[in-house]
Amino acid sequence: MFAAIYILLFCLLISFLPLITVSLKLSLPHPHPYPEVVVQDVQRKVNESISRRKLLDTTINTQCQTGNPIDDCWRCDPNWSYNRQRLADCALGFGQGAMGGKNGKYYVVNDPSDTDSVNPVPGTLRHAVIQDEPLWITFSGDMNISLKHELIFNSYKTVDGRGANVQITGNGCITLEHISNVIIHNIHISNCIPSGSTEIRTTPSNVAPRGGSDGDGITISGSHNIWIDHCALSHCTDGLIDVIMGSTGITISNNYFTDHDKVMLLGHHDGYLADVGMQVTIAFNHFGVGLVQRMPRCRRGYTHVVNNDFTEWQMYAIGGSANPTINSQGNRYTAPKDSNTKEVTKRMDADEGEWKGWNWRTDGDIMVNGAFFVASGDGKTNQYAKASSLEPQSSTNIDQLTLNAGVFNATRYIPYISHTSILSKSICAHLNLFHCIHITSH
Ligand SMILES: *[C@@H]1O[C@H](CO)[C@@H](O)[C@H](O)[C@H]1NC(C)=O
Ligand SMILES: *[C@@H]1O[C@H](CO)[C@@H](O)[C@H](O)[C@H]1NC(C)=O
Ligand SMILES: *[C@@H]1O[C@H](CO)[C@@H](O)[C@H](O)[C@H]1NC(C)=O
Ligand SMILES: *[C@@H]1O[C@H](CO)[C@@H](O)[C@H](O)[C@H]1NC(C)=O
Repeated sequence: MFAAIYILLFCLLISFLPLITVSLKLSLPHPHPYPEVVVQDVQRKVNESISRRKLLDTTINTQCQTGNPIDDCWRCDPNWSYNRQRLADCALGFGQGAMGGKNGKYYVVNDPSDTDSVNPVPGTLRHAVIQDEPLWITFSGDMNISLKHELIFNSYKTVDGRGANVQITGNGCITLEHISNVIIHNIHISNCIPSGSTEIRTTPSNVAPRGGSDGDGITISGSHNIWIDHCALSHCTDGLIDVIMGSTGITISNNYFTDHDKVMLLGHHDGYLADVGMQVTIAFNHFGVGLVQRMPRCRRGYTHVVNNDFTEWQMYAIGGSANPTINSQGNRYTAPKDSNTKEVTKRMDADEGEWKGWNWRTDGDIMVNGAFFVASGDGKTNQYAKASSLEPQSSTNIDQLTLNAGVFNATRYIPYISHTSILSKSICAHLNLFHCIHITSH
């Protein structure tokens, strides 16, 4: 009897040891000693929200329903531009707690310049994002913002590009570091290049010396409750979106990714244990022309890849190392022509004996053009509870679900259609004439 209790205690102790190491290694301002507890908390909220939505679904007006649950949440209101903060209630997945600037003041950016990163000029995006108070940031009109250095955010900000064509490029670009509650919506982010050593104001009272940056579109580091929705990302030096250093509670949804090598990295490096608690939802995105690899590349943590349309990868789509859990549900994977790159998945830095134990599953995905997903792990459904964040819809609805992926009202290429005729008719049927002309003219 006592022996059994001691064995139990010993096992408990052993099972917490890695977590204790984690807490020592964390460099966050308020490190959580047990990331697994955070995981369960997020999971509980996600469960609650799924059941709430199931109730709502029966009562919602069906007129404006496109089937995309995020978009239907705000676009069903024809007067949405007067109720912009409603968007904050529309997130799904692990990042659904992201409040952004909800209940805060509106800040209208009317100056596209970025001349001084230590004393930013009022009216610029840089001046808006460093403030301490929650802010809902909008734009007075179309704007191209070429950054002088990384754009370093403070917590509780929404960047809401609806109704304007906003393009962010330059040095940096967007850096979310040791903060929480940011929503970035309807913005183009492209051509981001590394930024050199410099000083940058991060809050009204703090100027930080900065080393070189990698040239990512968006870097999410040591941060939680972040939602990136309806952005168009392409052509950066390093990653389009990187989630690293103990970040969690992230949703990356409805984005349009094109023309880039290393699309998304989730997890810092194989030895970084704090990423065991990372939970990321990748939903309703379009992975399009000119993409090579990492959609995403995962390390540790739990990734829910759900209802995305993968139309091009030159090396692989879903990859990882260091025993990540990957739950792929209701996606469409269209393989490239090259017979050597039909495999959706890729494992790095491990031999088969090791990765056979990693939990990677494909559930309800459609495989097109010879695509195949190599699953691993023991396939038990309960392994995926922590990598489940929203109810997957049938992958046969993928055209409809990703119809408006990227920035609204923007010119988009869907040129892959020219060589995968499977997609062309179905997508074109759903698009407006403008898009179809664009496609056929390619
Ligand atoms: C969330 O729901 C899943 C599936 O219904 C269940 O297995 C899991 O235990 C729940 N998690 C929590 C923390 O309630
Ligand atoms: C939209 O909302 C604004 C502000 O609440 C109100 O003034 C306006 O009348 C509304 N318009 C419509 C068409 O409901
Ligand atoms: C932004 O740059 C694009 C070219 O990349 C140009 O066509 C557009 O007119 C610019 N918009 C503004 C508001 O300057
Ligand atoms: C797209 O354009 C239409 C027509 O100009 C406009 O009414 C609508 O608000 C725009 N949508 C967004 C999200 O900007």
